[in-house]
Amino acid sequence: MPWTTPTLAFYGLGAAALAGSVVKLRKRLELSQAKHKSLAGHARISRRLAAFVPFYDYGEDRFFCSDGAPAEIAERRRAGFARLSALYRTRFAETIRLTTEASANISDLQFTDAYRVPFQYRRMVSAALPAAAFVQSSSGVTVTDLDGNRAYDLTGSYGVNLLGNDFYKGAIERGAALVRELGPVLGPYHPLIVENTKHLKAISGLDEVSFHMSGTEAVMQAVRLARYHTKRSHLVRFAGAYHGWWGDVQPGVGNPVPAHETYTLNDMSERALHVLRTRRNIACVLVNPLQALHPNGSAPSDSSLLDSSRSAHFDKEAYAAWLKRLREVCTERNIVLIFDEVFVGFRLAKGGAQDYFGVRADLVTYGKTLGGGLPVGVVCGKRELMKRYRDNRPADICFARGTFNSHPYVMAAMNEFLAHLQTPQADALYRDLDRIWDDRAQSLNMRLAAAGLPVVLANMSSIWTVCYTQPSRYNWMLQYYLRTEGLALSWIGTGRLIFSLNYSQAHFEAVADRFVAAAKAMQDDGWWWKNPALTDKTIKRTILKEMVRHRLFGPRERQSD
Ligand SMILES: Cc1ncc(COP(=O)(O)O)c(C=O)c1O
Repeated sequence: MPWTTPTLAFYGLGAAALAGSVVKLRKRLELSQAKHKSLAGHARISRRLAAFVPFYDYGEDRFFCSDGAPAEIAERRRAGFARLSALYRTRFAETIRLTTEASANISDLQFTDAYRVPFQYRRMVSAALPAAAFVQSSSGVTVTDLDGNRAYDLTGSYGVNLLGNDFYKGAIERGAALVRELGPVLGPYHPLIVENTKHLKAISGLDEVSFHMSGTEAVMQAVRLARYHTKRSHLVRFAGAYHGWWGDVQPGVGNPVPAHETYTLNDMSERALHVLRTRRNIACVLVNPLQALHPNGSAPSDSSLLDSSRSAHFDKEAYAAWLKRLREVCTERNIVLIFDEVFVGFRLAKGGAQDYFGVRADLVTYGKTLGGGLPVGVVCGKRELMKRYRDNRPADICFARGTFNSHPYVMAAMNEFLAHLQTPQADALYRDLDRIWDDRAQSLNMRLAAAGLPVVLANMSSIWTVCYTQPSRYNWMLQYYLRTEGLALSWIGTGRLIFSLNYSQAHFEAVADRFVAAAKAMQDDGWWWKNPALTDKTIKRTILKEMVRHRLFGPRERQSD
């Protein structure tokens, strides 16, 4: 064939197209490798698989021996369960009564109640150990329910309660007095906002501040700004990290609509860095520093405690080194690095995670405790990233409002919180913080090990999670023994214990005594029966088989064999 100009052009174009496809394919493959291997990294597959999982539950006969325990052990468990149930029904009678009444009308209660334990056990647990979702008062480090039972508060009010509930009561009260003259007027600001802004700029080391009504909204706004200024579409989050409940940060199960512009990558991974270096569509990287406690793991809720594979370990140096590298790559590629400090913000250090890990972000979100006990979300950022319009293109804006943003009462309670941070008491609180909580975790772990209990706690300062050292299908039962011993847990159970910083050593010792007593009672009731043939793998296999069987044969049979 003669090599005419058109022929050459044709082959040239073909070769270019082929090369383009190869590059695209390679990039696709690299992205795939950088995504987290678990379902968390693959939103579409996870949604399809979630639709596959059939509901089934264990009846009386299977509930107590789903791990193959012999009749004698099942009987011990049955007796323990009945005893616990009787205790619950008498001790928490009024609290349970009101919870049951309210639950019929409050969808959130129905949801949290349905996800306290793995679904196979839910029906029997809900009937015997109903949720008790009300408290009437708080004092010191305790809360008191409607029946007058006082429990050590390990819920931390989802992380809001950093300084002790009494502090926030005072902050709200004193704050309300500061803005009483203005009242709930919205639109124009109360002057306190100026002081708050100054404090926030100093804490974050950033230039500007915007106020929102929740952590979720603050993260939404930070991502929106990053997209606006970079003119790129995608956000990167790391597997398992929580950033609120809006669509783009919940691309998988939980969100009925797929989020196409989110990459969920591996935490602490070279491949993730490679993707950041080579893709051109990434606007921002979201980091929730809590991931340092369980990189690539989700919030460890007891409803997913199917076996004992939950793991957690905090290595400050390793995580700081990872953040440093992330920072470098983001700078190199003009990707906006967002620290989502809504949860850990003021818990690790006065200057937040940026100070704690020694890495600076471009935008930082705060919330929870910053509101001084009232709802809030805040974005702090570099001036050029916070701007919501372009001088030379007046119609090209980045919109963000919110009726209740900068509410005077919130600003006032926040002012109380920020003012407290400037005091010598606050300095004293942060001094040796990690050592104190590490020592406490270690001492409790030593007690648990000495008592031969298959439980170990991992912590990141005052945020703790319970892990289990021996394969078991019943670890989720511990939350009920702990509650019976007077320890208040949030609905995710033993997955997260949050201590407020006003826990004295004596308070902590009391919690530790109760914790050991609860675990001991659970062991005595046979839930941690030892079977060398039982491994996390065999547990998972059994559950998978049950699911396939139920999927194939439907609800014809109840799981009872
Ligand atoms: C890291 C992080 N980001 C965002 C949020 C959402 O905050 P909010 O519940 O105030 O909307 C949370 C809440 O737990 C969080 O932990």
